[in-house]
Amino acid sequence: MSTAYGKDEIAALQEKARRHLWLHFTRMSSYADGEVPVIVRGEGQYVYDQNGKRYLDGLAGLFVSQIGHGRTEVAEAGARQASQLAYFPLWSYAHPQAIELADRLAALAPGDLNRVFFTTSGSEAVESAWKLAKQYFKAIGQPSRYKVLSRTIAYHGTSMGALAITGLPGIKEPFEPLPPGGVRVPNTNFYRAPGFVADDLTAFGLWAADEIERAIQREGEDSVAAVFLEPLQNSGGCFPPPPGYFQRVREICDKYGVLLVSDEVICAFGRLGYYFGSERYGYKPDIITFAKGVTSGYAPLGGMLVTDRLMEPFSSGQTTFLHGVTFAGHPVSCAVAMANLDVFEKEDLLGNVRAHEGAFRATLAKLNDLPIVGDVRGDGYFYGIELVKDKATRETFDDDESERLLRGFLSHALFDAGLICRADDRGDPVIQLSPPLTCTQEHFDEMEQILRSVLTEAWTKI
Ligand SMILES: Cc1ncc(COP(=O)(O)O)c(C=O)c1O
Repeated sequence: MSTAYGKDEIAALQEKARRHLWLHFTRMSSYADGEVPVIVRGEGQYVYDQNGKRYLDGLAGLFVSQIGHGRTEVAEAGARQASQLAYFPLWSYAHPQAIELADRLAALAPGDLNRVFFTTSGSEAVESAWKLAKQYFKAIGQPSRYKVLSRTIAYHGTSMGALAITGLPGIKEPFEPLPPGGVRVPNTNFYRAPGFVADDLTAFGLWAADEIERAIQREGEDSVAAVFLEPLQNSGGCFPPPPGYFQRVREICDKYGVLLVSDEVICAFGRLGYYFGSERYGYKPDIITFAKGVTSGYAPLGGMLVTDRLMEPFSSGQTTFLHGVTFAGHPVSCAVAMANLDVFEKEDLLGNVRAHEGAFRATLAKLNDLPIVGDVRGDGYFYGIELVKDKATRETFDDDESERLLRGFLSHALFDAGLICRADDRGDPVIQLSPPLTCTQEHFDEMEQILRSVLTEAWTKI
């Protein structure tokens, strides 16, 4: 099926896009003279632009399209639901789709994470988790707990609360002052580990975890409500947790009565070969935040799973969680999520990731022979490739070089070569890959070949 647009249609779309559409986190001036990339169709692991050109979707849109594109059974589940009951709120009422999905998610989630609070996005899920932590501690007589710890360079969303938890100074600065209480601790980038633990991954992990304890002590143990951590940190380029890291974090949280929030907006729903990233790394959170892959993007949905203990103060008496959003747990999104999870089961997508992740890693690791590739890291179907100026010293690029390399060349060159991925320098420069969970060796090879050719050319431009 071709959905290439005619010349006049393309020109009209471009004109309207330039005049009226505001792209997110995008330097709009870069499209003043250039063409806005317009994606019109998706099928399996590929998407197609307005000219009919095909791209391998190496980022699953934005860490979203787990089952791949063009699944009519999931689209039809949404259409059926829209005909039957397009909308009803979860304020005081319920609808069968939210009930069934909450029941299914609770069954999939580890331990007693039995209660689901829906949102429409990941930022709202993170925001909700912080609000719940604050209200929970007030309800149980610990009203001084409001601070939240999170890791440097970690991204947790853009609403004001989620932004206060985010550890990327560059995207926070224009919005300061943010809600008070966000405190940073080290991330788990072993490639950039401090010298005294640079040769010992386990010691590095324990040091990073113990920094959480030191931060709690420094801030005042009665003032800290929660620690927000992704199972595998995305921003900065896929930092897996060292062995023992989360176990130590769990001990620290228990010792100080601090909640452990696993922000799984990216890492849930198969990205790491499990329904939840915390399962993969063997720890038990008090709250899991999720979004993205729960519907594979066929409709927007997010939420948080919370333990029975956290629900307790809200289960009896007059206490209400004073929080909600109109479209949270939208019936169409819930119906789509159920159909999405059916695909996971029918096609054993978790099994596919577990069976092929080693091959994915090995294929990307071939790029280590390029002088510009410093580190290839990640787990599951989630990898970061760190780019360096000097492999031996691990010297990174300065701001100007990074600007020229990433925005001036790599982003366009990778797209032109037919690969959708992310060239990101919010930390050190990295290329991020997070393809649909249906990918197999042919897709890994295609990614490697495109990256090899574009990165080889990039090296000549430094
Ligand atoms: C870990 C994490 N938390 C929260 C968010 C925010 O999600 P959303 O963009 O749906 O608001 C993201 C988005 O990428 C994320 O990666």
